Amino acid sequence: MNRIAVMTSGGDCPGMNAAIRSVVRTGIANGLEVFGIEQGYKGLMENRIKLLESKDVANMIQRGGTFLKSARSLEFKTDEGQQMAVGNLEANGIEGLVVIGGDGSLTGARILHEKFGIKVVGLPGSIDNDIYGTSISIGVDTALNTICRAVDMINETASSHDRTFLIEVMGRNCGYLALMSAIASGAEAVIIPEVKYNIESIINKIKVRYVEGKSRSVVIVAEGAGSAYDIGKAFQLIGGFDTRITVLGHLQRGGAPSVFDRTLATRLGSAAVKGLIEGRTGVMAGLGNREISFTPLSEVLTKKRDLDETMLKIAEELSL
Ligand code: F6P
Repeated sequence: MNRIAVMTSGGDCPGMNAAIRSVVRTGIANGLEVFGIEQGYKGLMENRIKLLESKDVANMIQRGGTFLKSARSLEFKTDEGQQMAVGNLEANGIEGLVVIGGDGSLTGARILHEKFGIKVVGLPGSIDNDIYGTSISIGVDTALNTICRAVDMINETASSHDRTFLIEVMGRNCGYLALMSAIASGAEAVIIPEVKYNIESIINKIKVRYVEGKSRSVVIVAEGAGSAYDIGKAFQLIGGFDTRITVLGHLQRGGAPSVFDRTLATRLGSAAVKGLIEGRTGVMAGLGNREISFTPLSEVLTKKRDLDETMLKIAEELSL
């Protein structure tokens, strides 16, 4: 193997630059030429592929976002788009590909592997932590730290005004960010898509606490469980609380990666390149029990991460 390429795809996350840097430098250290594909599958179809040198990734490990840029591509879902992408890989003599991204991006990697025989290793990059085959994805730790900083600040103004805040965090189908940030910020309740919730019983619990003297409340809502605005209306109407809503939105996807994300991305990037050299393909590198493991993409994309019931219980027991 002489030439490999790396790309970031789908929603970005902190640590993507650290992963690209690791792929580039590990590749060069092992005698490979490493190409960067801009804007994920979109750039691959448009042949936006450039040779990366070691200096191109200097000063990159600490930067949020992805300097290769990212995109969600509908065209790559078509046979025509896929043929264009494969044609460009072949025209550039690229023999191995590292795809960094979430479910959609890894689905693209699986297609390239299964349908076209391209050698590909995926890396889990998504703040949602919804990817099977790794205990944690690149970007999650930074996003959690960002959320907790925001919740701590909101807690202060909530206390000053005796208010109830509903804070909506990202997580389309997965309540991981909401659950972990609720625990880490001492929120009064958490609402996640994996668990059926009853607004009235949450309101009643909070009311009891108000009667006992608690002056403010924070409820973390995962976006996949419903809109914080809609839930907030019920809090105001049924509970009669002085309620405010904060949707944290895309600020959760930005920022300098935490030390954990920098080192995770670095380890995974290195493992992906070494995996390709050893002949691994159609797999995702992830973090197992302290060790890097490889899981077939077919498994990654058909199995679901279980909700951590222990953490859910802890959140319930400690919150009210
Ligand atoms: O999948 C990651 C994620 O950040 C989700 O939590 C969120 O719903 C989605 O991406 C937002 O995507 P976009 O940036 O395309 O609006």
